Amino acid sequence: MNGILKIANSMKQGKACRLAAGAAILTVALAGLAEPAAAGGEVNLYSYRQEFLIRPMLDKFTGETGIRVNIQFVKGGILKRMQEEGEAGIADLVLTADIATLSQHVEADTFQPVTSPVLEANIPARYRDPEGLWFGLTTRARVIVYSKERVNPAEIKTYEDLTDPKWAGQVCTRSSGHVYMKSLLASIIVAKGEEIAQGWAKGVKDNLARKPQGNDRAQVKAIWQGECDIALINTYYIGAMQFNEAEPEQKEWAAAIGVIFPNRDDRGTHVNISGGGVAKYASNRDNAVRLLEFLSDDWAQEYYAASNFEYPVKSGVKWHPAVESWGRFHADETPLAEIAKQVPLAIKLYDRAGYR
Ligand SMILES: [Fe+2]
Repeated sequence: MNGILKIANSMKQGKACRLAAGAAILTVALAGLAEPAAAGGEVNLYSYRQEFLIRPMLDKFTGETGIRVNIQFVKGGILKRMQEEGEAGIADLVLTADIATLSQHVEADTFQPVTSPVLEANIPARYRDPEGLWFGLTTRARVIVYSKERVNPAEIKTYEDLTDPKWAGQVCTRSSGHVYMKSLLASIIVAKGEEIAQGWAKGVKDNLARKPQGNDRAQVKAIWQGECDIALINTYYIGAMQFNEAEPEQKEWAAAIGVIFPNRDDRGTHVNISGGGVAKYASNRDNAVRLLEFLSDDWAQEYYAASNFEYPVKSGVKWHPAVESWGRFHADETPLAEIAKQVPLAIKLYDRAGYR
């Protein structure tokens, strides 16, 4: 295990108490913004990503550049706050965990375009906005998981296979109202058109074992309990369960499932990103761009991806051994900006299908 992974794993063990201190972080962060600026200046970060995932990278950035990073971790509410603050806002950079959230910021006009040869070299075009309004920093795949006891994985090759009536009463998912489910259906709209996407929503809904509920881990638990046989989850949850020292039962849940990377032989598996955008009214714009560039480069890419069992966006960067163990796969190459545009239609299709 290399140094980066050691730090990542030790951070995981401290996660519970850090989460417990979440409310405190929020309050202290505001106070932190009042401190005098360091020699290299500062950058104010609004983050949807949990501080334990990013703090060590920010410290290294400060060590290398002298630029102090003031962070506010706010799980929800960043967009609203930026809209309210407008020009008076202090945010320079926003870090989020999903393309749908980045798109909401674009629609609300809270980001500004950035041109950077470093970002363009490090991040494949499909994982960044054509106008430079947002940049992907890590990716995760939305995969099919199945009961190793009760399902023959050779029978499922694609997302479309989940609509086969032979799986009636066996499929579990979280609510269609969640961004992960919306982005997945949006990717099917782009690949196959509205009609087929509508049929997919209806077909999966008809095969559900229970009313959509719980988060991604809850679907795996339901497979372990025998309530369902097949589910849709993001890859990093597998690692989060496999290494969960705080709740070791989750290791058993993870051991009950196998992983299928769907649509290997055609368009590829749907992937989503975590990423960031520079705030429209950033007063430390150049420092924000430097931080984004740092996060897109080799050291931070390996660290950032490993800390949450995700994939680096930069090619050639090493994967966490657990992530590597699930296998290499073919990712859907559709630009995420195209997929994001279909999210509103995806919401309508789920609604028409009666998929809650
Ligand atoms: Fe997640």
